[in-house]
Amino acid sequence: MKPANGSPWQIFRLESVPSTNSYVSERVQALDNLSVVTARCQSEGRGQRGNRWVAGPGENLTFSVLLKLPEERLEARRQMRLTALATVALRDGLREDYGIPAVIKWPNDIYVRDRKICGMLIENGLTGHWITHSILGIGLNVNQTAWDPSLLNPTSMRRVTGQSYDLDEVLRRFLGRLQERLPDLTEESLWQDYTDGLYRAGERHPWSDVFGRIFYGTIKGVRKDGRLEILCDDGILRRFAFKEVQYVL
Ligand code: BTN
Repeated sequence: MKPANGSPWQIFRLESVPSTNSYVSERVQALDNLSVVTARCQSEGRGQRGNRWVAGPGENLTFSVLLKLPEERLEARRQMRLTALATVALRDGLREDYGIPAVIKWPNDIYVRDRKICGMLIENGLTGHWITHSILGIGLNVNQTAWDPSLLNPTSMRRVTGQSYDLDEVLRRFLGRLQERLPDLTEESLWQDYTDGLYRAGERHPWSDVFGRIFYGTIKGVRKDGRLEILCDDGILRRFAFKEVQYVL
């Protein structure tokens, strides 16, 4: 059943859960399209590359959005579109609603200057060549101001602006942004918005390859399949999948 307030989102607020992504993934059949599960605390928050996602209880947003896609809407080889959707909605919300100079760091982080304000874990369900559902797992640092020193470079909305924020309000605004961009999922305009102004695009920087070897190069773009194009110092334009290259920060 949809809430009566005109919002298409069905929000489930949990106190504590191992991981909102796992919670949704275990209940995909039972949950409606546009369900959102938030948790005040995650005991086993999952990050990219098998890392853990740690967030101060009640200080940040940790939530997962379930999108169920109609048959033959999005091909599996176009799954980067879902990354584009979530990152563009979040970046634009931070910039336009809160005046925070956020940028997308390929493929799906949001940075402010050289610090990470938001991470995403996007997990898709497939049938054959088609995506049937997507779980957009989002960890947005909102009010936290101190972190474990082992974390590389975190920041938060509060760290950037000096203000603290109501978590429900931030979530509501983000969902509004997402709703606005949903019809663009397969449009060129969304892809353009994703690739415009990527973190470190057009500048020469060091990178680390799968063997940990450092090389220098400049981001030239992102292929539709999600691979990052880097023009390396030897003059060769190389394409890297997510696990094949890392920024050196
Ligand atoms: C990253 O490593 O940058 C991705 C972090 C994604 C964290 C979010 S928090 C909500 C959702 N549930 C999870 O277990 N992970 C994602």
